[in-house]
Amino acid sequence: MRVLAIESSCDETSAAVVEKRNNQIVVCSSVTATSLTIHAKTGGIIPENAAREQVKYIMPTIEEALRLSLPAGKAGVHGSQFKAREILESDIDAIAITYGPGLIGSLLVGVETIKTLAYVFNKPVIPVNHLLAHLFANFIENEADGRKLPATNKARGQMLEASSFPFIGLIVSGGHTDLLYFKNIEEYKWLGGTRDDAAGEALDKIGRLLGLKYPAGAEIEQRAKRAGKTTLRFKSPIINEETFDFSFSGLKTEVLRYVQKNKLTEKLVNEICFAVQKAVLDVLVKKTLAAAEKYNCKTVLLGGGVSANQALLEKFKLEASSQKLEANIFAPEQKYCTDNATMIGAYALLNYKEVPWQKIHAEPDLYFD
Ligand code: KG4
Ligand code: ZN
Repeated sequence: MRVLAIESSCDETSAAVVEKRNNQIVVCSSVTATSLTIHAKTGGIIPENAAREQVKYIMPTIEEALRLSLPAGKAGVHGSQFKAREILESDIDAIAITYGPGLIGSLLVGVETIKTLAYVFNKPVIPVNHLLAHLFANFIENEADGRKLPATNKARGQMLEASSFPFIGLIVSGGHTDLLYFKNIEEYKWLGGTRDDAAGEALDKIGRLLGLKYPAGAEIEQRAKRAGKTTLRFKSPIINEETFDFSFSGLKTEVLRYVQKNKLTEKLVNEICFAVQKAVLDVLVKKTLAAAEKYNCKTVLLGGGVSANQALLEKFKLEASSQKLEANIFAPEQKYCTDNATMIGAYALLNYKEVPWQKIHAEPDLYFD
């Protein structure tokens, strides 16, 4: 089974060809165009600009992903000897699409494009919830880092074998912070989420206060590393409340007050980044491990842009071992943490559910069932 997957929910236009082969999720091609440089200039995403860029890039991205999906010999130089439409017609079994959540203009570009392709080429469509796909990016084949996730461990065989479940999933992105319990791929329960800003959103807003480029998460991680350590501390909001909810807007306000009272030097900015990152990671790790313990889960899967943060993964592993929790913690390969179509294809293959294209609509406010 081979799917063409499309992701267009925000500022990335992404297409991938993904296959389920010998119980593995194999990436045949993956192409992403991003309009980030445009949004960096405005210090954040202006939805209309993002949608206009989606319109520009959607077809070239799809064509490139189709051409690159052929084996090198067959494709020639960048697949020039084969037309993308021929590949779609003969090699692709179904089309997977993000139908929400996200920006309405951006979502519409992807959704309406694939509805047309599905109609013309008579292909089935699998609509995918972007948030769930972030977690299931952990199931994309990755032999390079020798990961031992049961689902992708060839030695142990079966994809999504029982030992992957139950797991706790933490989605941490620019738009969302959610904690979920998965009994199996279809039965899951939302445990809590942010009451205000998402973790990535807070990092981006704090980055702006510090004069960093949008989006600031990755730079905050680099600067925190450069600082090494500091005695400066910010509070981790609601860390001691008995809830799986999160809140990050108070942290932003605390940093704002600090920045107003102190002259920013390069060294101080790095130290603020260290303290901010610590405050965010502390609360993410504490609540997620508490959920793993409460629901007796031996697997924790992270997903979303903030899960690209290496300090987060290290902290998770350190805390789990110091609490003597038998928890295996995984984050997707870095390129599959931020928005990408490969994760959409992976989720569609793992939870294959066709829906007639006439019934698929962009749902900007889609959450969990
Ligand atoms: O998942 P994503 O690409 O888009 C959404 O669905 O929101 O996540 C983007 C977010 C941004 O807020 C960005 O600052 C953050 O992920 N991010 C990071 C890192 N890389 C990206 N945050 C912390 N550390 C990183 N290395
Ligand atoms: Zn995302």
